[in-house]
Amino acid sequence: MNDTYILGIESSCDETSASIVKNGTEEISTIISSQIDIHKNYGGVVPEIASRHHVKNISIVIEECLNEANMTMDDIDAIAVTYGPGLIGSLLIGLEAAKTLSFVYNKPLIPVHHIAGHIYANSLVKPLTFPLLAVVVSGGHTELVEMTEHYKFNKLGGTLDDAIGECYDKVARVIGLEYPGGPKLDKLAAEGNKTYKLPIPLRDDSYNFSFSGLKSAVINLAHNEEQRGNPIRREDLAASFQDVAISSVVSKVKKAIEEKNIKNIIVAGGVAANKGLRTAMEEVAKEYDIDLSIPPIKYCTDNGTMIAAAGYYAYKEGRRADLYLNSKSQDTLK
Ligand code: KG4
Ligand code: ZN
Repeated sequence: MNDTYILGIESSCDETSASIVKNGTEEISTIISSQIDIHKNYGGVVPEIASRHHVKNISIVIEECLNEANMTMDDIDAIAVTYGPGLIGSLLIGLEAAKTLSFVYNKPLIPVHHIAGHIYANSLVKPLTFPLLAVVVSGGHTELVEMTEHYKFNKLGGTLDDAIGECYDKVARVIGLEYPGGPKLDKLAAEGNKTYKLPIPLRDDSYNFSFSGLKSAVINLAHNEEQRGNPIRREDLAASFQDVAISSVVSKVKKAIEEKNIKNIIVAGGVAANKGLRTAMEEVAKEYDIDLSIPPIKYCTDNGTMIAAAGYYAYKEGRRADLYLNSKSQDTLK
């Protein structure tokens, strides 16, 4: 069998990335140009600024990726690109680059949903085994997704308001941590004790999540303590928040295991980098004798590698887009 090389392009938020992956599992080369240092001055991603930087970076990133792999476009079988969801202006830059390459070099264009990319990041570790439960935890999504085969997604539940990563970033800001606060809050939590009492969100019988109430509770607690003249113990507040946020995900994961007879779990999205979540999921896997896969941290946050990996399986499924492919800020996982 001939090897298949997919060029993956990702530009949905503030990372411009290109990667070449062989047969959906082997990373050949990856370039990521991050804009974190620019956006942290504003406390979050400024969409217009992000788009402009994608324009500046995209050609260089793709060229460097090919150079690092010692390959040319002739060696590439297909081009996979994130078409959504994400920031519309940012998405458009990667999409136009992918469409141009597809047209000029006459290569198939593969549309990839950003969350499918996060899920397929796990195939860079080991092949996905079905049926599986994907725990999707990112800056824009918190979802439990059942998969019975490649590209067959059945959403069991999701957040009713904020995504978990968004909540981490907002709470981090209240604690005084710089954008992106999620990883910094995770680090701080490891130094503290869960001494602050916070409400456990949405303890119901669904597979849904809610994080806005938890975020408001942290903000109120911080303001009340300030008004009373009590300095906030930042590491303890971080530990208390992390405990409740992670417990809320874990309780719904356990419900799915018990009700859906789950034997394989994968964790996907930026918050999969969270140490507290990784440890909690490892304990769940042990308790229920589950096969657990969590990508290495470098594959958790946005990158072209996961798009190339997801693109490979989409390519094998016969998924193709034409040059009318448009970017979408929102789209159901498919
Ligand atoms: O998947 P991602 O790179 O972008 C989206 O598709 O949304 O996820 C970014 C999110 C941010 O909210 C970031 O703060 C969060 O993932 N994140 C973390 C950690 N690392 C990244 N949140 C908690 N703990 C971490 N270690
Ligand atoms: Zn992402």
